[in-house]
Amino acid sequence: MESAPQTELDWHSAKALLDWYVELGAVDAVGDTPVDRYALAPPTPKQAPAPKAAAQDLPKRATPKAPPAAPSIDYVALAKQAAAGAQDMDGLKAAIKAFDGCELKKGARNTVISDGNPAARVMIIGEAPGRDEDREGKPFVGRAGQLLDKMFGAIGMGRDVPLSKDAVYITNVMPWRPPQNRDPSPEEMAMMVPFLERHVQLVAPDLIVLMGNTPCQAVLGKRGITRLRGGWHEVWGKPILPMFHPAYLLRNPAAKREAWADLLNLQAKLKERE
Ligand code: URA
Repeated sequence: MESAPQTELDWHSAKALLDWYVELGAVDAVGDTPVDRYALAPPTPKQAPAPKAAAQDLPKRATPKAPPAAPSIDYVALAKQAAAGAQDMDGLKAAIKAFDGCELKKGARNTVISDGNPAARVMIIGEAPGRDEDREGKPFVGRAGQLLDKMFGAIGMGRDVPLSKDAVYITNVMPWRPPQNRDPSPEEMAMMVPFLERHVQLVAPDLIVLMGNTPCQAVLGKRGITRLRGGWHEVWGKPILPMFHPAYLLRNPAAKREAWADLLNLQAKLKERE
């Protein structure tokens, strides 16, 4: 593989270049100059160990003490405190951006918080930003997001609709992209749930939709979207409907039938609560 030109790269460009190499299948880091490993000097023979001094000849040394353990920080408690202090959406955004407990933040280009109409009756909670979302700083803008827009468009709703009754508001459990789009860990989710709960309080939607297993785990404390989807749950005082994630629907188009049934179910619930 051709090597990168010798330029000064900032952190994000270097990370993007490395991701690109990994996507191309690179598995080893190699230098610009080839190394003939056969011509390398043979390993030097091991030196005979120095004769051991008799125990009685050795000066007495104090038994080394283990270094003091670093105090562990309770990031969930810090997140709860920061989230509770947010008085409005600007305050919440600032609190999320300032939160340093989650390692995912270090590898992300953007903190992706939300999109859509904050006065919407429906709040959609997804998993985490992917590559497109990380680049654009908005949730659900890639292929899965386009399908999400079509799904809600089919029942006359959308993120750009000014009328709150037909509008949706979109966020994710995690505001930072996990590397290689892996699932967020339970610890990473636990740190961000206090911000999500505060987000729900501030937006105050009528209904919440959970897209896929990750938000089900974070909000309902359980996974198993095939069983959970289509049924109503209640958390944080809100009716909650789990649905298949649009990325799953892209891979399994036959499941769009169930997704359609869930959208009609959502529409009926909205009418019922008008
Ligand atoms: N998948 C999600 O769950 N959220 C996004 O923002 C994008 C893809």
